[in-house]
Amino acid sequence: MGGKKSDIELLKGGKRTDKRKPEDLREIKMEANVVPNADGSARVQFGNTIALAAVYGPRALFPRFMQEADTGILRTRYNMAPFSVVDRKAPGTDRRSTEISKVTRLALSPSVLLDDFPKATVDVYMEVIQADGSTRVTALNAASIALASAGIPMRGLVAACSCGKIEDTLIVDLNGLEDNFGNADMAVAMLPDKDEISLLQMDGLLTKEEFFKLLNMAKEKCLQIVEQQKSVLKKLYKVDKEMTE
Ligand code: CDP
Repeated sequence: MGGKKSDIELLKGGKRTDKRKPEDLREIKMEANVVPNADGSARVQFGNTIALAAVYGPRALFPRFMQEADTGILRTRYNMAPFSVVDRKAPGTDRRSTEISKVTRLALSPSVLLDDFPKATVDVYMEVIQADGSTRVTALNAASIALASAGIPMRGLVAACSCGKIEDTLIVDLNGLEDNFGNADMAVAMLPDKDEISLLQMDGLLTKEEFFKLLNMAKEKCLQIVEQQKSVLKKLYKVDKEMTE
């Protein structure tokens, strides 16, 4: 959504609208297993953006014509709740949610290993319950934790971060105002442990130098985010010392 003109000062004395420095992430909160009926789930919050992810499967895929004989498939659904934004959002699927459902599937696919589950599906549902910028990356971070907590075999966790440019300054983790009124924004997802990028979307204009600088800033933040994802998952499997003695 980059490039719109506004009278809003996005950067004042080197500080952003929420008082952050350009290279600062918002406060991040992560929790796993928040949807008891799901095989795996997570809640991730970046500042005022909150996303839930729930994973079901591997489970038999119907209708049968969608089944793959030699592998399971990954399906993803991204949705923004009507109450997630200040101006109520019309409920249901729209072009934006269709696009984000597709790109989140592409971002997660290089990680999941579904060859052992022929004819099955793994379904990932992502629900944005409060939106203040960078919802697709927040939802992706939740989906990755949810997949791991569901026990889906993975090549590594997927971590995601947004970055962009406001008032000629490069920043990470865009809030809603920055997303709407900045000069450019980029969504990056990667498997930090493999140093592989699995999603890169850009809106707005950047020079080649700015692009590579931003990409490095986002990669550095993904390395930080993946450590928080891992520590949330480790807590799930923490064995009570007394029980093992
Ligand atoms: O959320 P993300 O940055 O991944 O995608 P976007 O399409 O660039 O949306 C940017 C922001 O615009 C969202 O995070 C929301 O804060 C806001 N938005 C909104 O207020 N109403 C919508 N129907 C869609 C987006």
